[in-house]
Amino acid sequence: MVHSHTNNYNLSGVYYLSVPADSGEIVFRDPRPGANQAPCRLFKDDGDSEYFSPSAGLILLFPSYLEHYVLPNRSDADRISMSFDLTLER
Ligand SMILES: [Fe+2]
Repeated sequence: MVHSHTNNYNLSGVYYLSVPADSGEIVFRDPRPGANQAPCRLFKDDGDSEYFSPSAGLILLFPSYLEHYVLPNRSDADRISMSFDLTLER
């Protein structure tokens, strides 16, 4: 399900521990109203989303307001990841 991590955090992230082949991509969407209407798309693909294929050991950091979701795991093994949120303080 598409979601974001609220304004209570500055950064969100995912640390991938195990990523079997064909276990699903993480997809990011530009959350700005109207940002996904051509020709003013933020992302470079031909749609409104950016797809990332993770690998074991990868840490992804992104603004907490960025909408995202994960595609289904189509392998027979578990994809293992840890997600987290960060609040930056002065
Ligand atoms: Fe999330």
